[in-house]
Formats: sequence, C-alpha cells, structure tokens
Amino acid sequence: MPESRFLQLAAARRSVRKYRPDPVEREKLDVCLEAARLAPSACNAQPCRFVVLDEPALKNKFCEAVFSGVYSACKFAAAAPVIVAVISDTGKLTAWLGNQVQDTNFRLIDVGIAAEHFVLAAADQGLGTCWIGWFGQRAGAKALGLPRGKKIQVLIAVGYPETVPPPRPRKTKEEFCSYNKP
Ligand SMILES: Cc1cc2nc3c(=O)[nH]c(=O)nc-3n(C[C@H](O)[C@H](O)[C@H](O)COP(=O)(O)O)c2cc1C
Repeated sequence: MPESRFLQLAAARRSVRKYRPDPVEREKLDVCLEAARLAPSACNAQPCRFVVLDEPALKNKFCEAVFSGVYSACKFAAAAPVIVAVISDTGKLTAWLGNQVQDTNFRLIDVGIAAEHFVLAAADQGLGTCWIGWFGQRAGAKALGLPRGKKIQVLIAVGYPETVPPPRPRKTKEEFCSYNKP
C-alpha cells in the first residue's frame, strides 16, 4: 500500500482512557472544532452543535451528573480536562423526509462524521480522545439547560494521553470489504 499520512493518523488514533491533568490549549480545540464544522451532512443540514466544557468547575459538575449510577463505568472520562458534548437538533425538513423514506438516520450519521472529524484532528495534534456513548443523556441535557428537541448524542473526552492503549482488533480486509461483489 502506498504511504499515506492520513492512514498513519487513522492507525495511530486510539480511544484514550487515561489522561494527564494538563489543560488543552484552546488553539488546538479550535482546530478540532473547525475540522468538525467542515464535515459533510445530508442536505447540508449541519444538524449538530459542539459544546466544549473546559472550565474545570463546570466540567466536573457536568461529569458528576452524567457519569453517576449505571453510567459510572465511564467515570474515567471525568479525569479528562475537556469534555465535548455533541448535540443534535431536529435538522432540516428535507433531511427528516429523507430519513422517513430511506429508513436511515441521517442526523446520527451527520453527528458521527462531524465527531470523527473532531477526533482525528485531535489525534493529529497529539491529543487523546474517547467517544462516550454511555452517559446520562437526560442529566446531561439538564446540566446544560438544553431546550426540547436538542439531544446530546455523544460526548468526547479530550486531553493529553497518560497512556496510549494498544490497538484493538479489527476485521480482516477480506471480512471488511470487497470489490465488485457483496
Ligand atoms: C459511537 C461510539 C460510542 C462509544 N462509547 C464508548 C463509551 O461509552 N465508553 C468507552 O469507554 N468507549 C466508547 N467508545 C470507544 C470504543 O469502545 C472504541 O472506539 C473501540 O473499542 C475501538 O477502540 P479504539 O477506538 O481504541 O480503536 C465508543 C466509540 C464510538 C464510536
């Protein structure tokens, strides 16, 4: 396979679950946010908003709310100096209609693309991240004072890695993809 800087980046990214306490520079976070802002979306609906929690007291209060009870399995994320809430809104009518006809949740696809742009831009700058889908959604919405129709779909923990875990297994190329046949 030819050398690819992008492949190197994709291969180096990990879900980091141990963070150094060092704060993350806003300049770096801004690069991640810009990468997410540039993400494509169905009908160009751009149905998400990224809320960055980097103020320690605010972030800690938020983490207490969203990682309690059954969600305490993800408490490790509270040690990250930054938590990003990826919030979806109801989106454009055309995207909603497409969703009904195609039985595909375009809004969630859009959120996923934008969030992964963020995560890869973070990895490119030496930052560790972890997608968090297991958190108290209602408690999070309450903590942020979100109006009806807006939902935190995922959180992204961000910080400098204390430890970088080894790669997780992936499907083989044969299992994963094929040319000209299913
Ligand atoms: C949508 C999504 C939700 C995830 N939610 C969690 C989570 O709640 N807690 C967690 O520790 N990791 C979570 N992860 C991270 C995955 O466990 C991780 O990506 C996977 O095990 C592969 O490991 P890697 O990211 O290091 O390659 C999530 C990842 C994605 C894409």
